[in-house]
Amino acid sequence: MRVDQSNEDQLDYWDGASGEYWARRADRFEEGVADYDFVASAGIEPNDRVLDVGCGSGATTRTAAALGAEALGVDLSTPMLTLARARSKDLTNVSYEQADAQTHEFTEFDVVLSRNGVMFFGDQEAAFRNLARALRPGGRLVLMTWQPVADNEWIRTIREALRAPTPERPGFGDPDWIRELLTSTGFQDVRIEPRTADMYLGTDADDALEFITGQFASAFARLPDREQATAELRADFAAHETPRGVRYGSAAWFTRATRP
Ligand SMILES: C[S@@+](CC[C@H](N)C(=O)[O-])C[C@H]1O[C@@H](n2cnc3c(N)ncnc32)[C@H](O)[C@@H]1O
Repeated sequence: MRVDQSNEDQLDYWDGASGEYWARRADRFEEGVADYDFVASAGIEPNDRVLDVGCGSGATTRTAAALGAEALGVDLSTPMLTLARARSKDLTNVSYEQADAQTHEFTEFDVVLSRNGVMFFGDQEAAFRNLARALRPGGRLVLMTWQPVADNEWIRTIREALRAPTPERPGFGDPDWIRELLTSTGFQDVRIEPRTADMYLGTDADDALEFITGQFASAFARLPDREQATAELRADFAAHETPRGVRYGSAAWFTRATRP
């Protein structure tokens, strides 16, 4: 697979041990964002040709297919695509391709969608120009991305435990930045709506702790006060235990745009 130089670190991350972690925990990651019901909001019609960008283990690709679409999932990660293919083996209207969505030459789609898969591109402008080319004229782009850290209690809690500063770079948290990116790369009629839902992290505090410290294992290992940080995080998770497990407030943008 050819990956743009600007995405080589993402390939290392998703195609390596982190991709394996995500694939092993695919159901947990899925439950985490399930309350957003993202694909249901995409207005997919039967027979739509749908491209799912950064499809991971293919849950959203399969949901699009269940709505009658002809769905292609594209991703960098071998372990996640292996799981996606295994879970789709009885479906005739789903396929997957391992490729860098920033540069891959796609044929024309009616809908390009992505749930939390577009924030990783090394060159956002090049990537979105490529995604605009992937749509037929009149075709639709539908994205889910996270709102700023300040509005996402779960991200803030994890970053605080990791003693990580709040990122100050402009990006998908900022609707003006999203609008500017899309209008400058070939999209029009950009509409950005706020959505909120509970983010699920685990059955109880210990389960959530094991999940999060496993996901960010190397960052936790580097902390000089790892035991203190882990104890604080466990206490925060315990304070967020609900009858439906450990849940935090979260906030996303649902963005739609069309290709003229
Ligand atoms: C946070 S995961 C989301 C997975 C999936 N969309 C979901 O909601 O379950 C981000 C995914 O984007 C993929 N990704 C990152 N950069 C990519 C690129 N340049 N081209 C294709 N996929 C990419 C990663 O491999 C990873 O599977």
